[in-house]
Amino acid sequence: MNILLLGSGGREHALAWKIAQSKHCSQLFIAPGNPGTATCGINVPVAATDFDALKSFCLLQAIDMVVVGPEDPLVKGVVDYFQQDSSIAHIPVIGPNKTAAQLEGSKAFAKAFMLRNQVQTPAYKTFTAADSDAAIAYLQKHAMPVVLKADGLAAGKGVVICQSPEEAIEEFRQMVSGKFGAAGNRVVVEQFLTGIELTVIIITDGQSYRILPPSKDYKRISDGDTGLNTGGMGAVSPPPFATDAFMQKVQSLIIEPTMQGLKKEGIHYKGFLYFGLFNDRNEPYVIEYNCRMGDPETQVIMPRVASDIIEVFQAVAAETLANQPLEIDPRPCTTVILASHGYPGTFEKGFPITGIDQTTDCMVFQAGTAQNERNELVTAGGRVLAVSAYGQTLDEALRTCYINAGRIYYDSRYFRRDIGFDVI
Ligand code: GLY
Repeated sequence: MNILLLGSGGREHALAWKIAQSKHCSQLFIAPGNPGTATCGINVPVAATDFDALKSFCLLQAIDMVVVGPEDPLVKGVVDYFQQDSSIAHIPVIGPNKTAAQLEGSKAFAKAFMLRNQVQTPAYKTFTAADSDAAIAYLQKHAMPVVLKADGLAAGKGVVICQSPEEAIEEFRQMVSGKFGAAGNRVVVEQFLTGIELTVIIITDGQSYRILPPSKDYKRISDGDTGLNTGGMGAVSPPPFATDAFMQKVQSLIIEPTMQGLKKEGIHYKGFLYFGLFNDRNEPYVIEYNCRMGDPETQVIMPRVASDIIEVFQAVAAETLANQPLEIDPRPCTTVILASHGYPGTFEKGFPITGIDQTTDCMVFQAGTAQNERNELVTAGGRVLAVSAYGQTLDEALRTCYINAGRIYYDSRYFRRDIGFDVI
């Protein structure tokens, strides 16, 4: 099969790494990809949201399947675009359609969906600039801290935890005044939960589903889970608190009502569905849905999928997932993100990266990298690399990650030293 993967981050390098191992994969193309994905297939200089160019490329290269990494093309309707054009409608695109992708594209849509379908989630209310007075009155009485979420896609930055009513009111004003562009036209005000976060991702064909290994990512920039929120600075799989009993609750209180709700509301969801969860005294609550795999969760989940991933994707496309087993590698896997100093704020780029060839017993997935005019691998983003490793235990996996992280060098290298600190 000729396969086209969309995206260019560490998640896509991990997906490309897994797809390239499939016995069904004859050629893998990645649009636009990065220097890491170029070691698994052929990068194509086409943006993941340039649907017309993707169509031309698919016809030219006789592409048999498109796999979508990031949310942007899904929320913009890449699945619908392919389905509605008879020349490419035969090519399955692995991901949800535009309506289904609203579970990520609109926080207000997602919260209302959860409420209608009894999916356990923190209490919330939605406000716009037009209801500012009501929002201010609500925030003045709300228990602190409180969570404010810009409704639309805000590049992972639209969720703010406020410690006082004054801070929350100021944040609300900024959001509805365009701090996150149109994404903040509506703001979800949500109850703050204590507990521990984890990620559960399923793959579904719209009828049945398979649960991928649970994981936990570390979103804050600094050790001890402090500092600004990032896309994720590391991840572990499985988190030890995701016991069988807890995962049973996730299935019955979260996944099943979500799947039933989708069916009841006529939303045909196919592809990955990401549940960002909170474990509050052993009760799971949904903090967010995403319509794609997580980053850096993919960098610990794909190594733990033992099945041929293309067979799983084929079953999603054919809606035969009920007959397709998903085999899991029992070894724990962890990842540590090597970032650029200054991220998630401003940072410099273009520093040569050395030492990847000195690493052993690990997988180095590339994210913010580029090749300079001298053909050197250089930094080109906030999150630069993900160093993933297996172990007999999480502790062992993390040791291997950190030994290898220390072998890679570039000016401005930054990484958290405590990934997994709270679970090992
Ligand atoms: N690691 C969080 C996310 O992918 O949304």
